[in-house]
Amino acid sequence: MSENHSKITSHTLKNANGVRVEILNLGGIVKSIKTPNKHGVLEDVVLGFDTAADYLKPHPYFGAIAGRYANRIDNGTFTLDNKTYTLAQNNGSNHLHGGIVGFDKVFWDVSPFESEDGVGVRLHYLSEDMEEGYPGNLDVTVTYTLTHDNTLKVGYKATTDKKTILNLTQHSYFNLSGDFSNDILDHELQINASQYLPLNQNQIPVGTLEKVKNTPFDFQNPKPIGKDIAVENAQLEIGKGYDHCWVFDSKGLSKVARVYHAESGRLMEVYTDQPGMQLYTANFLDGTIPSKTGGFYKARSGFCLETQQFPNAPNQVEFPSTILNPNETFTSETWFKFHLIKTKNQ
Ligand code: BGC
Repeated sequence: MSENHSKITSHTLKNANGVRVEILNLGGIVKSIKTPNKHGVLEDVVLGFDTAADYLKPHPYFGAIAGRYANRIDNGTFTLDNKTYTLAQNNGSNHLHGGIVGFDKVFWDVSPFESEDGVGVRLHYLSEDMEEGYPGNLDVTVTYTLTHDNTLKVGYKATTDKKTILNLTQHSYFNLSGDFSNDILDHELQINASQYLPLNQNQIPVGTLEKVKNTPFDFQNPKPIGKDIAVENAQLEIGKGYDHCWVFDSKGLSKVARVYHAESGRLMEVYTDQPGMQLYTANFLDGTIPSKTGGFYKARSGFCLETQQFPNAPNQVEFPSTILNPNETFTSETWFKFHLIKTKNQ
């Protein structure tokens, strides 16, 4: 533990508007994102810990990069070219977020850079053949850039020397109020998706794409996250709230979601080129982990917007393929763009 403790490094990106993003080499974790509220007060808008070493203890993927395969793989197995691979079942019978020591728990090599866009860090990790049961030496680079216009850009790049599967995401829990004793039910969310993936009792997609219209999953027009979260609905029961993958209507890098917190004036937009996004309303936070702002993290203390491929896609042929072949380069982009809305008389 102490050896790992001394290996942790922290890197802070700053821009001229006072926005600050702190990133750890451990897990590629976004430890804090500080943005001003409409009164100019700089506050942290992501859940996690004050002390970097606390991220060495078990925690629910606060701020981390999830991989090699973010979200769930049914029974922890998949087949490639008639060969079956066995992964850790670390979530009931499911494989979750890359296994026992996923990308959230490894140490990445970090190199800082400056570009026209802003300042950033490039994180590199070589995941060896059969690490956590996945085939191929996978060379992964995650690039975080804080731009001059308050966007945290997350770029992913990966190559392999054997056919493998891949699904990478960023697992920050946001609470735009900056005070984690508030829940996020009053945040207004819009998702540009007319469909989502319903789940079976094990939280694995049943395989159909369901229309969100006339369901609690309809965020096509902005509505508070809390508006329908407690209505009687079999899918909400399975997830203990929202813990589902929305399927975007757009293709290519597009604006896919927008979250507005009126009291602080903070607005966040999400852009991605991925086909889906898991909205997770921190349903499994049970009040046992102490919060950065006092008190404890509870269900609904934060929300994750995990841009991704579809959960369990390696076992569901009708879903877009998540296979990465040797001599291909996987690239992907997700942006979290922060704005301030200053209303009159405030
Ligand atoms: C999953 C949740 C899980 C959480 C881990 C999310 O991506 O969808 O079910 O509990 O990550 O903390």
